Amino acid sequence: MVAALPLVIQGGMGIAVSNWRLARAVSSRGQLGIVSGTALDSVFVRRLQDGDPCGAVRRALAHFPNREDAAEILRRYFKPNGRAPGEPYALLPMYRQAVSAFRERVTIAANFVEVWLAKEGHQGRVGINLLTKVQMPTMASLYGAMLAGVDVVVMGAGIPREIPGALDALAVHAPATLKFDVDGQPADAPAVLTFDPRAHGFVHAPLRRPDFYAIVAAHTLAANLARKANGRVDGFIVEGPTAGGHNAPPRGALQLNASGEPVYGPRDVVDLAAMRALGLPFWLAGGEGTPEGLAAARREGAAGIQVGTAFAFSDESGFTPDIKRQVLTAVAAGTIAVRTDPRASPTGFPFKIIEMEGLAQQDDSRQRLCDLGYLRTAAARDDGRLDYRCSAAPVREFTNSGGVEAETAGRRCLCNGLMAAAGMAQPTETGLELPVVTSGDGVRALGAIARGRLSYTAADVLSYLGVGASTPA
Ligand SMILES: Cc1cc2nc3c(=O)[nH]c(=O)nc-3n(C[C@H](O)[C@H](O)[C@H](O)COP(=O)(O)O)c2cc1C
Repeated sequence: MVAALPLVIQGGMGIAVSNWRLARAVSSRGQLGIVSGTALDSVFVRRLQDGDPCGAVRRALAHFPNREDAAEILRRYFKPNGRAPGEPYALLPMYRQAVSAFRERVTIAANFVEVWLAKEGHQGRVGINLLTKVQMPTMASLYGAMLAGVDVVVMGAGIPREIPGALDALAVHAPATLKFDVDGQPADAPAVLTFDPRAHGFVHAPLRRPDFYAIVAAHTLAANLARKANGRVDGFIVEGPTAGGHNAPPRGALQLNASGEPVYGPRDVVDLAAMRALGLPFWLAGGEGTPEGLAAARREGAAGIQVGTAFAFSDESGFTPDIKRQVLTAVAAGTIAVRTDPRASPTGFPFKIIEMEGLAQQDDSRQRLCDLGYLRTAAARDDGRLDYRCSAAPVREFTNSGGVEAETAGRRCLCNGLMAAAGMAQPTETGLELPVVTSGDGVRALGAIARGRLSYTAADVLSYLGVGASTPA
């Protein structure tokens, strides 16, 4: 049976903002809940080190197909009483082109657990969101999510041309490959990432091949993916530059306004007639999370909308309660702003950061350290080996591996900053890593949902959008 298309997709928001609780709240009410798979392996081992207080991680892990791995993961990372005050989290080895089988299985297990929990206790569909630019953990993440029966994969922040084919392969437990972007690698001998499910030997029955939705900021990219992806694309999320998180850069040469934000122009407006002509369902994202936005999107031929910001500050999301309360207080007072920072993200994409008084966030004074490494990219050395580097890492580390110093200016460590915003800040010598809080421009309009309160639920968001009453068949 073909599942009915959702009117509302709850956007995947990393790190751990779109957690299993949020996705379950949305999916169990008949819309599409999405978990964020970004850096989920580190989130998973941090939850275990914090004692997994509600027991959810262990409950899901008990269903993981490989019992030995589940036991080994618990042995290494689970702390029944949590960490001692100030005790740093134990870290996973950072991803590289090839990692150990156990390291891969931690990623598989983390994604399995998150999807399993999001699907627990209802019949609704659940999706997972990954960033195309974060290449190295992708296939293990997808496979783990598929072992738990994920229904939809949503990917943007790059051009996910090879993901549909990888999903086809993983569904039959066949090896999958992705081209690996390596700086300085000869074009006639591209580097690849390979993932072989058989090396893990979990199950043999074919898995459901999830639907694949690509996030695009241009109809030309959608057309290109529909034609040239190496497998089936099932739909598109058309995301504009007001959306939270990373934004696609403006077309053409980068121009900045007086406050140093990228200027978007008519060339960045997506041609919805061209989208309709592709004949695949699409959802509009970026400041669309209002009843009027949903109605307008439907009139334009969209199946519905993808909403991030409104869900990001709901009770179920992964932002810390303190961040949510502070943000909703500033929303009520009208003292919140969002800045599109062209430098903050090591990916080079514009990234939105909340600006408000009293919210301590990471800045240039951070003692640079790269210990999570999800945004590291690879560069080929003369001897053929690879260097891994991130422009938010210590400057010397970056330049020693061939990076240009100017690239490091203004960069934020999004790995540690986003992890801190989700309540898993790494202790440092001087305190805790400080958060980086991202949001869409639409945060200023959250008063319509909060209605004077300093907390609201995902169900409140759905009711506000006028889709609250439906439940999945
Ligand atoms: C806190 C936050 C984090 C986000 N992280 C991601 C992400 O990891 N991957 C992604 O594809 N989109 C991400 N987004 C974008 C959302 O999935 C969604 O497309 C967008 O928020 C829709 O626009 P809106 O915020 O105006 O509702 C993020 C948005 C927010 C608010």
